[in-house]
Amino acid sequence: MMKVKWGVIGCGGIADRRTLPGMMLAENAELVAVMDANADAANRCKEKYNAKYAFDKAEDLLALDEIQAVYIASPVFCHKEQVALAAKAKKDILLEKPMGLSVAESMEIKAICEQEGVKLGVAFMMRFHSYHQKMRELISAGTIGEVVSARAQFTCWYPEMENCWRQNKKLSGGGAMLDMAIHPMDLIRYITGLEVDEATGFTGNQIFKYNVDDAGIGVYKMNNGALCVVEAAFNIPDDASVGKLEIYGTKGSMIAKGTLSQEEGGELEVLALDSVGGYDAQQNRSTVAPIPVEVTFGNMYTKEIEAFGRAVLGEGEIPVTAEDAIRSQKAIEDVYTLN
Ligand SMILES: NC(=O)c1ccc[n+]([C@@H]2O[C@H](COP(=O)([O-])OP(=O)(O)OC[C@H]3O[C@@H](n4cnc5c(N)ncnc54)[C@H](O)[C@@H]3O)[C@@H](O)[C@H]2O)c1
Repeated sequence: MMKVKWGVIGCGGIADRRTLPGMMLAENAELVAVMDANADAANRCKEKYNAKYAFDKAEDLLALDEIQAVYIASPVFCHKEQVALAAKAKKDILLEKPMGLSVAESMEIKAICEQEGVKLGVAFMMRFHSYHQKMRELISAGTIGEVVSARAQFTCWYPEMENCWRQNKKLSGGGAMLDMAIHPMDLIRYITGLEVDEATGFTGNQIFKYNVDDAGIGVYKMNNGALCVVEAAFNIPDDASVGKLEIYGTKGSMIAKGTLSQEEGGELEVLALDSVGGYDAQQNRSTVAPIPVEVTFGNMYTKEIEAFGRAVLGEGEIPVTAEDAIRSQKAIEDVYTLN
């Protein structure tokens, strides 16, 4: 089997905790080099994941001819410059979400890659969760009829920390809405195949005083008229967070709990009605029970790396294109512009 030779730029939380372990299991991937501005982090990942090289400058990693693709998992404010360097070095790029600090910057990033003729994919790994794949399949099979609404809540506890790039708008582009809500927004688009027509909502700073939102709610009208709500928060304790994704249609519903996560898991219940009948003035609820759906869990990061790897090798399409990712970012940015 052909393998993509990878370089990794940014060896912090998501790379070290999730994507590199996932890459180790990918059948078409070989890790060649890692880079982090913090040399200790790069050296630690070199040892841990058996890479050949560790660097503290992106240019040094990109100078290696053998590297075909890079995974960029640095803070958002570094993305544009590093994409430009990688594209110039003719490396294909898998870029962490959000692509850029703003939709305008993400569009520049897309244009840079087009100009240099390199492939650009965006790391919305939750699309690879077995339950989210299943939900997409069920929607396209018409199992719950026409989608009329969706609701999602994705939260965590993220108190003030010194020198935290995510808590500084100039470095992150936004708080809970951009960092968290972008995932369920992306999933609603991916699972239903619908696009956002109109957006409204709120963002706030109720508990934490950093200069990004500690909570946000986006309310969306989709292109078939469906109404959706996406909530994100940095101010709900982890133990109180449910991570729900609900989709309702004219023939039933799909309720996922605990699937909005960095690990494959959670549960999915589907209610699919054979017939709906007329208006019931008594509003008697039927005895039809939702059915738990079974899937075999895998590793979202392994699937993500393998899928982008197939695109690099000319064996498949880019799983999440820049254009696709920018639509999810725009849905979030539209809420910021109202607040
Ligand atoms: N897909 C997901 O669910 C998910 C989850 C977490 C983070 N992310 C994204 O991944 C990216 C990184 O987030 P994180 O949580 O891993 O951040 P982090 O702060 O944990 O790690 C960032 C790493 O980048 C390093 N770094 C800083 N400046 C650098 C530079 N100029 N060049 C190279 N490395 C540099 C830091 O030393 C650190 O090791 C962000 O885009 C974030 O939104 C995605």
